Amino acid sequence: MTLAPDAVRTMFDRIAPVYDVMNRVMTAGLDVRWRRLAAASAVSRGDRVLDAACGTGDLAIADRRAGADKVTGLDFSERMLERARRKDASVEWVQGDLLALPFADGTFDAATVGFGVRNVADLELALRELRRVLRSGGRLAILEITKPRGVLRPFFSLWFDRIVPLIGKALPGGSAYTYLPASVKRFPDAETLTRLLEDCGFADVHVRLLAGTIVALHVGTAQ
Ligand SMILES: C[S@@+](CC[C@H](N)C(=O)[O-])C[C@H]1O[C@@H](n2cnc3c(N)ncnc32)[C@H](O)[C@@H]1O
Repeated sequence: MTLAPDAVRTMFDRIAPVYDVMNRVMTAGLDVRWRRLAAASAVSRGDRVLDAACGTGDLAIADRRAGADKVTGLDFSERMLERARRKDASVEWVQGDLLALPFADGTFDAATVGFGVRNVADLELALRELRRVLRSGGRLAILEITKPRGVLRPFFSLWFDRIVPLIGKALPGGSAYTYLPASVKRFPDAETLTRLLEDCGFADVHVRLLAGTIVALHVGTAQ
């Protein structure tokens, strides 16, 4: 089941106060390193960068630290953006929809999306929008939870299906974390996402699996 955009936005408005804490707890703090890697893989010094579905802003801020000249963080949840605004005034924070980006074609040198494409109503449209706002040769990095493989699979299943929703329930607004396991199961695996990126106008797509295969970092170049 895919949640309607309004339901996703409402869910993130509710999650906003606990979002950063949940990230650190769920990943044992590794999410900070993953965002740094994602930023470094797409951003070059002096770039104009879009961080789409920026949430509370940590990946947009990582893009800035990776040397971007100007970073725009976009999200449709005002409550998530409120938190981002408090963190870094040098980033431009914009309320908007990833499926209808309010930017002209070829505006950005690079774009990043951290744990954001999993929740969109139309993944292909999201990737085409990201391609549209990048210049030719611009780079896209997508950091996303993916279906785990191999011997660690049962462990991750226990973690995501049982423990994370329980931790979520213990935190105010965190009950929405019960949605997370379903969204991971529904999302395409790393190979399928690679092909989809190629179909949507990205070349030279590489994937790096992190955290024992549970997180995938896809990087591609706009053709
Ligand atoms: C899991 S959070 C990720 C936040 C941040 N990128 C990070 O690295 O932690 C997903 C974010 O995507 C946003 N989002 C989902 N669908 C969106 C859409 N169609 N347009 C804009 N933002 C969207 C949500 O509001 C939420 O803030």
